[in-house]
Amino acid sequence: MTAMTGFLGGMMKYFTLNNGLEIPAVGFGSVLESDVANFEEVYENAWSTGYRLFDTAASYGNQIALGKWLKNSDHARKEYFLTGKVAQSEQGYEETLSAFQKTLTELQTDYLDLYLIHWPKEKPFFETWKALEHLYDEGLVRAIGLSNFEANHLDRLLTKAKIMPAVDQLETHPYFSNHVTHDYLEKLGIQHQAWSPLGHGGQELTDSVIKSLAEKYDKSTGQIILRWLYQKGVATIPKSTNTNRQKQNINLFDWALTPRDEQLIDLLQRGERVMGAPDENYSADRW
Ligand code: A2P
Repeated sequence: MTAMTGFLGGMMKYFTLNNGLEIPAVGFGSVLESDVANFEEVYENAWSTGYRLFDTAASYGNQIALGKWLKNSDHARKEYFLTGKVAQSEQGYEETLSAFQKTLTELQTDYLDLYLIHWPKEKPFFETWKALEHLYDEGLVRAIGLSNFEANHLDRLLTKAKIMPAVDQLETHPYFSNHVTHDYLEKLGIQHQAWSPLGHGGQELTDSVIKSLAEKYDKSTGQIILRWLYQKGVATIPKSTNTNRQKQNINLFDWALTPRDEQLIDLLQRGERVMGAPDENYSADRW
């Protein structure tokens, strides 16, 4: 882990990926235009707070709006990190190459920092991965990775992959810590990044153990969860449309949970997902 100062929000920490690229430990999850009336203001607030990683996906439908904000805001391209994801319907070699071009056009950029396969749709994922390797070799993306790939999908992909994935973005929050996949990723040297780290703003934010820790550390329950993930070496992409919560979610680096308190949160794991398992979500179009 390295530290870097200079962002308005104070100090940001980074994790170093297996190809040497640094990724912000906390990025900004995708807000949709339909979620808010002031899309650009929400993103500009996030920028002012110190977020520099912006996560999106072809299937979210917000790439055009995000590209417009980035263009209007005129932030230097090298100052921020953009993550994109190839959608299920775009999987396959040629399909992925054209999907990537569409994503670049919509985001008004000429490269991505990270490009992921969104879900492990099994039949074409070798071809999709080959396309990602090509994009990486061509210098159009600085790192390539996966999302929602669990051990069985990883094992299968690795039988043919030439490049080791740099990141796996997975559903991860206290009630679904995804610890088994986490340990496997650690062994493989793949960075775990959590989607929905706050469980979509659900029950964990009012869990009695998390609440008592929030009181003890004088932090919000969201901060306790995000700090717990950071201490486990997990990068996160919390999203918030609210300026105060955006600030809380990034202010994690000048305090720490004790190992015992970290373990108290580990014990909350109960295998409760906010979305279906990867193999269930897309079973209809897997083969
Ligand atoms: P809001 O936009 O009103 O802040 P996740 O990233 O896990 O999907 O969670 C996102 C949800 O969590 C959003 O509904 C967001 O609502 C809420 N949220 C984000 N940060 C916090 C926080 N620090 N405390 C409480 N709720 C939060």
